[in-house]
Amino acid sequence: MRVSEKVSIITGGARGIGRAAVDLFASEGSIVYAVDLDFDEPFENPSVQTVAMDVTSPEQWDDLVQRVLNDHGRIDILFNNAGAVGSYDGIADISFEDWHRIIDLNLNGVFYGTKAVLPAMRKAGTGAMVHTSSMWGYVGASGVAAYTASKAAVRSLSKNVALTYAAEGIRSNSIHPGIIGTPMVMAQDTELTDDLIQKTPLGRLGTPREVAQGALFLASDDASYITGTELLIDGGSTAQ
Ligand SMILES: NC(=O)c1ccc[n+]([C@@H]2O[C@H](COP(=O)([O-])OP(=O)(O)OC[C@H]3O[C@@H](n4cnc5c(N)ncnc54)[C@H](O)[C@@H]3O)[C@@H](O)[C@H]2O)c1
Repeated sequence: MRVSEKVSIITGGARGIGRAAVDLFASEGSIVYAVDLDFDEPFENPSVQTVAMDVTSPEQWDDLVQRVLNDHGRIDILFNNAGAVGSYDGIADISFEDWHRIIDLNLNGVFYGTKAVLPAMRKAGTGAMVHTSSMWGYVGASGVAAYTASKAAVRSLSKNVALTYAAEGIRSNSIHPGIIGTPMVMAQDTELTDDLIQKTPLGRLGTPREVAQGALFLASDDASYITGTELLIDGGSTAQ
């Protein structure tokens, strides 16, 4: 029970990495608020509450924080995980509309969530945040201009939160998945996925649970002396 009775908010909780994290955190004793646009499948664990909301809405974040504080009086963990590739275009081809939409989800969504939750964590003098970046927010990648920019910004924002609020007992770290077998990846063209698998030293896709395990570690007290860093969960891809 590595997050026993801790109150967690996990975004992008309906599918993929977020869903695996909701299941894992709940099985490790956490009360979990799973956030997503909508939920098709219910969760078996009764300590999971589903919240249908859009992470790009600061107003909806304020409502959620109010609800969690009314229910439990505290927020121990924020896992900012919702995100999407959105466009594979480089700068020459990407539309203004796509650029803003992707930055709004992948970067502003993290900013809104962090800003909404910080007052409760500061008041409590404790809290742990984990933000999902990507290996493509750690090293460069061609094409995917908005995604790489947003994910690199998340890495930097996480360090900023870590340094700004360390003295107040708040930790912040980023995780950087490689190529993971989630609905997001399975929906893309198989040639690209096969090529990425071939370039991965461990020679296979990662699983959502393998990423969730990293998030759980950073969110838990096992990582009590870890802040402002990043955890690559990429089968060795960026070690090359
Ligand atoms: N799968 C990978 O290979 C991979 C690699 C690196 C990083 N990531 C990152 O991991 C995170 C999770 O990705 P995934 O692969 O599980 O994707 P996914 O598409 O399977 O799941 C993402 C979830 O986020 C939700 N979401 C999207 N927009 C939202 C919004 N505005 N408000 C609330 N929820 C919203 C979706 O509905 C979905 O359930 C993302 O930030 C992604 O960029 C994934």
